Amino acid sequence: MSKHDVLQSDLPWWKRTTVYQIYPRSFADKSGDGIGDLPGIIDRLDYVQWLGLETIWLSPFFESPQVDFGYDISNHYEIAPEYGTLDDCRRLIDEIHARGMKVVLDMVLNHTSDQHPWFVESRSSRNSPYRDFYIWRDGKKPYGGAPPNNWRSMLGGSGWHYDEQTDQWYWASFLPFQPDLNYRNPKVKRALLDVVRHWLREGADGLRLDIFNAIYKDASFADNPRSLRAIPSEDNPGGFFQRALHNQNHPDTFAFARELRAAVDEFDDPPRFLVGEVFGSPDLLREYCGPSGDGLHLVFLFKSLRTPFRAEAVRGLVSELESAFPEPLHPTYVFGNHDRPRQMERLGNDPARARLLAAFQMTVRGVPFVYYGDELGLSHHDMPREKASDPVAHRFRFLPKLLLPRLRKHGILTNRDECRSPMPWHAGPNAGFAPPTASSTWLPLHPQSAIMNVAAQKADSTSVLAAYRRMLRLRRRSLALSSGGLELFEPPADPKKVMAYRRVYQDADRTETAEVFLNFSRRSVSLDLRHLPSGKQSRLFSNLHDEPVVARAKHVLRPWEAAVVFCGEPA
Ligand code: NOJ
Repeated sequence: MSKHDVLQSDLPWWKRTTVYQIYPRSFADKSGDGIGDLPGIIDRLDYVQWLGLETIWLSPFFESPQVDFGYDISNHYEIAPEYGTLDDCRRLIDEIHARGMKVVLDMVLNHTSDQHPWFVESRSSRNSPYRDFYIWRDGKKPYGGAPPNNWRSMLGGSGWHYDEQTDQWYWASFLPFQPDLNYRNPKVKRALLDVVRHWLREGADGLRLDIFNAIYKDASFADNPRSLRAIPSEDNPGGFFQRALHNQNHPDTFAFARELRAAVDEFDDPPRFLVGEVFGSPDLLREYCGPSGDGLHLVFLFKSLRTPFRAEAVRGLVSELESAFPEPLHPTYVFGNHDRPRQMERLGNDPARARLLAAFQMTVRGVPFVYYGDELGLSHHDMPREKASDPVAHRFRFLPKLLLPRLRKHGILTNRDECRSPMPWHAGPNAGFAPPTASSTWLPLHPQSAIMNVAAQKADSTSVLAAYRRMLRLRRRSLALSSGGLELFEPPADPKKVMAYRRVYQDADRTETAEVFLNFSRRSVSLDLRHLPSGKQSRLFSNLHDEPVVARAKHVLRPWEAAVVFCGEPA
């Protein structure tokens, strides 16, 4: 892809783009300490460009004690030394831009590390000028006898933590070493908006907002109502037997989304975007986008993580997201990230299904997010939780092991090391992730690294990687796929096996239509394509081979094959 390869349409760039998530610790280690770093990422940018993903989202690499690997920031303006320097960061941003790609940085606005100087100050005394930077309350009983209310953290258990020194409790939505900032203090809001503006000035094209749904808590600190739900789900983020009524998805957070948007809109050359990590039903999450599209540009819609990979279920998902996020709103399609089970597990470790998922993700209306390694079909990597680096694994060590695979089926990963294995680049030493001289890697190499790696799949036109690249290329060359509207229609085959939708792009100069057929079955199916114009006018592209064919009245789709038929030429 070159700068000029991307088609122009009426849609803003961030609606047309495709996003690749890099977990910096696990992508490429240049220094040889076994930990991925920014210079390592720079060396691998040509790969991302070759693959054809247009935007790179980097998980946090700011200064941090790394207890939660960067999601616990101790200085928002510096780079953690294991990842590199400010110069490396600037070079990375420049190198991404030089390739015509965009970059999204991860903003952890909800909390800091407990090692952040603000918190160290804040906890030192009730009279500290920073006391009110965090959320401190008296307990219901003195001397740590009972927390201020019944609110639970996102990981279950009380999110209140008693601090003996000042005999008060502080609130943490996630883990105890990640105290929540107090956005009701205007100084806090100003300080974090400064951080946001700083990184936009440094060249970030977009910002991903970590647990944005937790930013505001109700000022009454009233108890949350009880519920019968034990396990949180995408639709209902509470769980742990209560509704997170007062500490998540607060109306003041919806309002803050608009304030943040106004700050981001100060930077309009080029326009930037915000994508929120938020949890709730699609209808509720839409609130983050603002009543007139003046809030977050995009929100993650994690329902896709739990949707069975079957024609009817995926059709239901698209239909729900289309009605909750109609144009000018825009859905997102996410199948994995650094917190979730590898997408391959839900696909039964079947590369054929992964090739179909690639076709779906790149042809549906919405921004696709691809987590590093998923483009290779990397499978779940079992790791002993006793040795886990991930603090969440220790939090859940009491869970019976037998339960873990079942939780994973529900999109819940209790040892997140298992989806963060070093990227396998080739079959050589350290899988090419780290120089051969590195004595170890921060997490063990994926057991499939010797056969399942970039070099091997680049050389194989039937690989999962080849299918991703093929579908990305098709999307980039088609206004219908990158920018068109979407209409589901009754498939010209068994609807239990096949899903069909039409993408139509129209502007003053042209109309382009693409029909997409996805075979979600292990059998070949015959498509009746008599409704399409005959002759050379309809070209049919597949996720399984590079060259298009002329669409015929009857077309046989192979197991897990996708076909995209263009009526008229793609641009
Ligand atoms: C969500 C992030 O994706 C996760 O990795 C992190 O541990 C928590 N937020 C806390 O920041």
